[in-house]
Amino acid sequence: MAKAEVRVNLNPSHRFSVAPMMEWTDRHCRFFHRLLTRRALLYSEMVTTGAVLHGRRADLIGFDPFEHPVALQLGGSDPGALATCARIGAETGYDEINLNVGCPSDRVQEGRFGACLMAEPALVGECVAAMKAAVKVPVTVKCRIGIDAQDPEEALATFADTVARAGADRLIVHARKAWLKGLSPRENRDVPPLDYARVYRLKAAHPDLAVVINGGIASLEAAASHLDRVDGVMMGRAAYQEPWRLLEVDPLLFGERAPCASPREAADALIPYIERELAHGVRLAAITRHMLGLFRGVPGARAFRRHLATHAVKPGAGTDVLVAALALIGDRAGEPVTAAA
Ligand SMILES: Cc1cc2nc3c(=O)[nH]c(=O)nc-3n(C[C@H](O)[C@H](O)[C@H](O)COP(=O)(O)O)c2cc1C
Repeated sequence: MAKAEVRVNLNPSHRFSVAPMMEWTDRHCRFFHRLLTRRALLYSEMVTTGAVLHGRRADLIGFDPFEHPVALQLGGSDPGALATCARIGAETGYDEINLNVGCPSDRVQEGRFGACLMAEPALVGECVAAMKAAVKVPVTVKCRIGIDAQDPEEALATFADTVARAGADRLIVHARKAWLKGLSPRENRDVPPLDYARVYRLKAAHPDLAVVINGGIASLEAAASHLDRVDGVMMGRAAYQEPWRLLEVDPLLFGERAPCASPREAADALIPYIERELAHGVRLAAITRHMLGLFRGVPGARAFRRHLATHAVKPGAGTDVLVAALALIGDRAGEPVTAAA
């Protein structure tokens, strides 16, 4: 009798991840993304330690087991509070706890966390060490290559050395500086120039530290080319705004079949989830807002978007609204994603 073929996929999920994005990567978004890729690591929105400790925890960090592997991103700079929140996150079932050292908003700066912590590597080291001592799951850090007048060569080297020594399991680097004065958070995602080479040099200098690159990665082809130089790629806006791209992740980066054959199949597969959530009082638009870009480039995509934007927000809107929106898109939506692109 022929020996059964054993296929072990050794590629870790951090090879491709969808970035943490406030207001965007909530639990509905992640459930939807999971219908498009089984393998990508999905990140939560940033949740501050204050919110985890004092807020409505189930609403803030609850998730569906279907979302695994899923990482919780925390915002904070108090080692004790971060350790407690990391433990709460791990007990809730998250597969990884991530610390935000990249957000430049004024509110976050006032709280002395986010990107301004690039100037305080020793404190970030204390935070990482405290979180590591509290949980068994990986503790990771998402940072920039520097802030303001910092020299990225020196600033990122010092930062990475410190967090690696503190035990960080992985460093995710948004490959541009954050300018903390004068730019809005949105501008800080586009205006400071990208410097992928700086991230490649970091990986070359730290062969033992897993390094994930982020920023401006607009296609799966681009993602694949970064993987020659770093351990993983994190995609933000391109994944959210055009989620059909995620159907390429498992075949292209993990050598596996996508969970659904087409964007259309993924939309249909979401309907039972939507029905369940509506029964719990969730509004239709809270879920369908994450699907607006699913059919970009396909005839009828605009009518699909417009129908959802107009009707899904109405009180009492049900899955019939999504079914009607789906009826507006052309036959090509049922084709595999490479053809739809
Ligand atoms: C709407 C939005 C919200 C974001 N919120 C967060 C956040 O909560 N935490 C974080 O680390 N980065 C946040 N980011 C930054 C992204 O994680 C990512 O670093 C950035 O968008 C660059 O990647 P991209 O060019 O692939 O989008 C956000 C980005 C966007 C567009």
